[in-house]
Amino acid sequence: MFKNLRLNRRQALWFGLTTLAGMGTIGGHKFSSLAQQIAAVSSSTNFTAVGTNSLRQRAAAKGLIYGAAVRHKSLASNPTFNKSFANECGVLVPEWDLKWATLRPDINSFDFTYADWLANYARNQKMLFRGHTLVWHDSLPAWFGQKVNQSNAKQVLLKHIETVVRRYAGQIHSWDVVNEAINIKDGRSDGLRNTPWLKLLGPDYIEIAFRAAAKADPKALLVYNDYGLDVDYWEDEAKRSAVLKLLERLKSKGTPIHALGIQAHMEARTTRFNPSRLVEFVRRVAKLGLKVMITEMDVRDTNLPNDPVIRANAVAYVYKDYLSAVLKEPSVIGVMTWGLSDRYTWLAEDGQPLTGAPVKPLPLDYDFKRKSAWYAIASALDQAPKR
Ligand code: XIL
Repeated sequence: MFKNLRLNRRQALWFGLTTLAGMGTIGGHKFSSLAQQIAAVSSSTNFTAVGTNSLRQRAAAKGLIYGAAVRHKSLASNPTFNKSFANECGVLVPEWDLKWATLRPDINSFDFTYADWLANYARNQKMLFRGHTLVWHDSLPAWFGQKVNQSNAKQVLLKHIETVVRRYAGQIHSWDVVNEAINIKDGRSDGLRNTPWLKLLGPDYIEIAFRAAAKADPKALLVYNDYGLDVDYWEDEAKRSAVLKLLERLKSKGTPIHALGIQAHMEARTTRFNPSRLVEFVRRVAKLGLKVMITEMDVRDTNLPNDPVIRANAVAYVYKDYLSAVLKEPSVIGVMTWGLSDRYTWLAEDGQPLTGAPVKPLPLDYDFKRKSAWYAIASALDQAPKR
């Protein structure tokens, strides 16, 4: 397969990097993936799409949805970004403004200022509005640890879910009811993460949350959302298996759960992506009668050469490889990226990557222009079978 491959400087650099990382050594798929990846990073011509339609339009043409996470602050403060967001997205996911830390100034009150702003924006732009997230171990307010205990935890959880879900009932497309409840490293036989909610309420907190959400909005699509489910590695395999067991348990108890959200935070230099493993998992989820959404996709371009073309195309390659595989599955109903433009990405919150180059994981560049990742998503959507 590599016989006729003459590598230019750029390709040689990438080849050296991936070979060092062990790529091409495990399994048939990896070999062809390496060849494709070398070809892909050498030129942007592999990432093209016909016409100028937005991602929103391309997704809609296939009966799919495309959207992105966003903060009130970036939409409200940057008119150019605001215009790009309105153009590209058919779904708005509050990145921050529906989390406990923003919604809950104290145990007795709610502050919906920014969440309402985003809900109105979505309504005005005729976008779907996706709720993220009702139950998570992270982004809990400072008062939580002091005020919530075993005797009031259930009531606090129910009040939160009833109040928040009812407020957006009729407008919300889907709710991430429980986020990131599995963590293999916590060592429990059921794979559950040792979260404050687990400590306070035991494993039933998940079912309690789904039932409360369904009661408050019987029409919303209720989602379990998690990360680390993507690659061909023992850790992800263990997590896929624990997530499947959790979903099976919930379904067998008649819990109102309708979809799995696969976050899909990827790394461009990954050597472990194997589409058939992921597809196999998606099919097992679908067999439980659940839909699947790719909910938070981004592709980190850290630990790559500084060459901007290699970096951009390596990111695009992962989008294309990942999305063209999952979008063939009829159970997959949509794709959301975790941000739209490289100007506003949570990955930059951790500071600059080792190379010193700014992280560029999203479809639009810093100045809101379409880049190779955008074209990769566009062509994956164009090639997806119609729902
Ligand atoms: C992140 C936001 O993007 C950051 O701005 C914030 O500081 C922390 O949360 N998985 C999730 C998201 O489910 O809620 C996280 O969002 C990213 C990882």
